[in-house]
Amino acid sequence: MANFAAITGWGMAVPERVLTNADLERTVETSDEWIQTRTGIRERRIAGPGEHTSALSIAAGRAALARAGLDAAQIDTVILATCTPDRPFPATACAVQAGIGARRAAAFDVVAACSGFIYGLQVATSMVRSGAARNVLFVACDIFTHFINWNDRNTCVLFGDGAGAVVLQPSDEPAGLISCVLGADGGQEDLMAVDAGGTRLPATPELLEQGRQYVYMNGREIFKHAVREMAASALDAIQAAGLSTDDIALIIPHQANLRIIEATAKRLETPMDRVFVNLDRYGNTSAASVPIALVEAVEQQRLRKGDYVLLTAFGGGLTWASAVIRWSAE
Ligand code: ACO
Repeated sequence: MANFAAITGWGMAVPERVLTNADLERTVETSDEWIQTRTGIRERRIAGPGEHTSALSIAAGRAALARAGLDAAQIDTVILATCTPDRPFPATACAVQAGIGARRAAAFDVVAACSGFIYGLQVATSMVRSGAARNVLFVACDIFTHFINWNDRNTCVLFGDGAGAVVLQPSDEPAGLISCVLGADGGQEDLMAVDAGGTRLPATPELLEQGRQYVYMNGREIFKHAVREMAASALDAIQAAGLSTDDIALIIPHQANLRIIEATAKRLETPMDRVFVNLDRYGNTSAASVPIALVEAVEQQRLRKGDYVLLTAFGGGLTWASAVIRWSAE
């Protein structure tokens, strides 16, 4: 049993290929101006051959292990948050386990769309605290661009691919997850989904012809839910940690849309200089967006030892999640 699960390693990986708004102007009826003013996105990374979910996850996982100073053999549990797996079956976490060489570690996937990192962080932390696991590699990776209809301007400008990873280890000092609030509303699952390819609607040539293997989304509705639930769950998480918004050194929100981030920050009465934003370079990387932002925040020295950081996310499901973490690395 441990009191806390500290984040002792972190890493990220993104595909090589950059797709700019100017590139998209050439393929769909859109403009750099529309995309930037409505979303804040300038460019995103697009996975190419060989850059599938387990491959990016392994790269991010190795970086996190190196940072933690751990051998893969010391990892006893590998968790992967993704809703875009290598294959429908088996769990992509198993390919990550084999790829990094964490021989005999338990491995399983967590599916919570863009909220996946915070959902998985709660699961991983609980395992460490209970003693069920000691050294956990937790990766969040999504490759949404394979589920995008590149003729649909409502979705194709929004998403990018990437992976972020953390290592969690037992700690007696307050560190890692301090409070966490998870929520979902399955009654709204049709606001964003991929219809074909599951057990409800197995893929057929007719469904593929209709493009039912691609993601569709009611952006306007999701926008409203996102601001409301991210702000409400964030306030609950801050309160559950026994803190106030003034105690939060940095907010790391899910990077879906700059306007959603700004509206959420306003509800939290937090100025934007205490909110981390990098969606201009990556777009919406789904479950990977929070850990990629966390890694870049550390690299940019936006976090100091002892800082309280608020993570907040929202995604398909619908799902939402907010957490307060205490940064314990130097
Ligand atoms: N270029 C130009 N025009 C466009 C584009 C585009 N790429 N996309 C849509 N438009 C048009 C629409 O057709 C519409 O035209 P109309 O008025 O003639 O019908 C007009 O722009 C305005 O469309 P809205 O949907 O009202 O635009 P909005 O300001 O809501 O922005 C957006 C759309 C960016 C999708 C926004 O609603 C959003 O970000 N929603 C949230 C998405 C999200 O966060 N998803 C999270 C879940 S992701 C996950 O779980 C993996």
